[in-house]
This record gives sequence, C-alpha cells and structure tokens, in this order.
Amino acid sequence: MKFFVDTADVDAIRELNELGMVDGVTTNPSLILKSGRDITEVTREICEMVDGPVSAEVVAEKADDMIREGKLLAEIAENIAIKVPLTWDGLKACRALSDDGHMVNVTLCFSAAQAILAAKAGATFISPFIGRLDDIHLDGMDLIEDIRTIYDNYGYETQILAASIRSVNHIIESGRIGADVITAPPAVIKAMAGHPLTDKGLAQFNADWAKTGQKIGK
Ligand code: E4P
Repeated sequence: MKFFVDTADVDAIRELNELGMVDGVTTNPSLILKSGRDITEVTREICEMVDGPVSAEVVAEKADDMIREGKLLAEIAENIAIKVPLTWDGLKACRALSDDGHMVNVTLCFSAAQAILAAKAGATFISPFIGRLDDIHLDGMDLIEDIRTIYDNYGYETQILAASIRSVNHIIESGRIGADVITAPPAVIKAMAGHPLTDKGLAQFNADWAKTGQKIGK
C-alpha cells in the first residue's frame, strides 16, 4: 500500500519522509490556504523533499483554462501530478494533460460512474473521497470497493487513491479492499502507531523494571 500525505505542511511531511513513510503528497486549495504559503513556493519545496508524485490542483473551471494552469503547475517539478476536478471539463483536461505525458489525479470523485469516466479519460489516479461521503451518511468504503471491482473487471490501470481519510480504520479498510494508495493527514498516519494495549503493556514493563533497581549499561 502506497502512503501519500494529505497536507502542505512541510515540517509534517519532512518528519514522515525521514522515516521512509512518504510515497507521495496531495495538496488542494484548502490545504494551501492552511499552510499560509505561496502555492508555487511550497509545492516546489515539497517536490524537492519527496521523490514520489506531488498533487497540485488547478482552480479554473473551463477545460482550456485547467490545461493552461495544469501545465504551469507541471513546470514546478517533474514529480507534479496535476489535480483536476471530476467535472466534464475536468475530464477533458485530464485527457489532454495525460496525452501530453503528465500524471493526472482526478479529484472530488463521489461515485463509481465518475471513476469509470476518469479511467477512460486516462487518469493516473482517481481520488474517491471517503470521509465526505460518510459525512452525508453514505458509506465511503462501499465506493472504494465498487471502484476496485470495476477497475479489476476491465483491467483499468488508473490507481485508486483513497482520499478524505479521517480515521485509522479508513486506512485499514482501504488496504483490505485493495486501494492502490491512501492519502491521509499526518495526524491520522501517526495515530496508526497507537494502541491502548501497547500503552498498558509499556506502563507495566516500566513499573516492573523500576522494581528491579537495575540500569541498562554502566
Ligand atoms: C485529497 O486529495 C484531498 O486533498 C483530501 O483527501 C480531502 O480531504 P477532506 O475531505 O478531509 O478535506
């Protein structure tokens, strides 16, 4: 399972990257806002730090404008994946940018029908948003499962990038279903290390060790 980090916070990316846990990064306009940084500057810094794909999102609504913005974003670094929304114009931009040799991440996917169109349009990644479906009382994991089944039925090469991940369980379920990639906020990735039985066991070991009165080493 490939791990992308869903943030534009360079310090958080660096910490995970030093552990070898970062296969790529995803950003979006809201995450750029949160970073308080200039999009070109922060995206370049992330691309220099991380070897894998770094998604940077267009903001135009018309295909021609998306293509123009996408090409500008791609000039930042070789590992840019151009993120376009799953609209009809976004699919047109996806086809053009993909034919031009760029990696394209089609984002804001909320149905299997949309995911089929993205694959047909040559997307490198399709980003189904799990958490936002859960927010409206649908099951985001059902969507990941449906897309996996359909893509496997027809051998589509577009990678399923499970997005809008809000919990450790979303990551486990994405792995069980066979999503190619997950993208999660740094806090959710770090939360994967936690378990109450680990904490309990460690407290017991520390208490028993204190009773021995010993030290390791001289
Ligand atoms: C994915 O590429 C998006 O940036 C992200 O996963 C959206 O997550 P959210 O629904 O928590 O904002």
